[in-house]
Amino acid sequence: MSAPDKPGAGGAQSYADYLQFDRILAAQRPISNAHDEMLFIIQHQTSELWMRLVLHEIAAARELLQHDDFRPAFKMLTRVARIFDQLNSAWDVLRTLTPSEYERFRGVLGGSSGLQSHQYRLIEFALGNRNPGMLERLDYRAEYRRMLEQELARPSLYHVALQALSSKLGVAFAGESLRRDAPHRHDDAIARAWTAVYRDPKRHWDLYELAEKLVDLEDYFRRWRFNHVTTVERIIGLKRGTGGTAGVPYLKRMLEVELFPELWRLRGDL
Ligand code: HEM
Repeated sequence: MSAPDKPGAGGAQSYADYLQFDRILAAQRPISNAHDEMLFIIQHQTSELWMRLVLHEIAAARELLQHDDFRPAFKMLTRVARIFDQLNSAWDVLRTLTPSEYERFRGVLGGSSGLQSHQYRLIEFALGNRNPGMLERLDYRAEYRRMLEQELARPSLYHVALQALSSKLGVAFAGESLRRDAPHRHDDAIARAWTAVYRDPKRHWDLYELAEKLVDLEDYFRRWRFNHVTTVERIIGLKRGTGGTAGVPYLKRMLEVELFPELWRLRGDL
């Protein structure tokens, strides 16, 4: 009788091999001699790793919703909200970085900035906040720009939710509100349809639960934006960003972004 497969047995697989330690733990390379640059690098790298999982979950949830398979999609959307929650707590670590400590290595960052995070932009595009003007920020890597363009060609998670809303309620929405290459804007017909769902949750339970999953996700995403801008203000005050924006004033404007505006506004109409 052969022995059951055991990871690591016979040297086939080890913890370090499986998790690619040679690559992942060799990828923290400060370029200044400031002690705190390591924190800065790890904070960004871990955020990007979690964003990778967010994208994995959103892509799968979107596909399931397109096939009317709501339950497993809900579980994935809950996971995305939990990831944002985790990222929100992570700001507490970065908040230990003082302005004086940051100044010791800020100069070596050059023009690199979170504005160039293709994964962050992919998340925004996948959720429905699609500003094609942001594409040029990814020109530094043709492959990233291509990924963003491919994402723009797909329906966003919100588009897919709206398709489900439209087909289950038997209502049609204007083509303009379903445009793939523009940020989603509030639409009265969509708001009316979601309101009908919230007025009779028992009848439209799947849609109702879907809407609440989306609100939950956006709630945690908003907290991420808020924590980011507060941390940034604490560290650089009103200095311009390394990416060339006004810095905190730019990030404060981003707090006004609404991913699923109808779902927020209908609450006042119930
Ligand atoms: C010392 C810490 C940090 C500072 C001072 C900082 C500062 C800024 C500033 C000023 C901007 C505006 C764009 C610019 O002009 O550069 C920005 C954007 C951004 N940052 Fe940070 N940031 C910090 C940490 C982080 C971390 C840990 C992440 C996680 C990945 C992150 C992700 C982003 C993203 C995704 C944007 C684009 C936001 C948007 O366009 O809405 N930042 N950051």
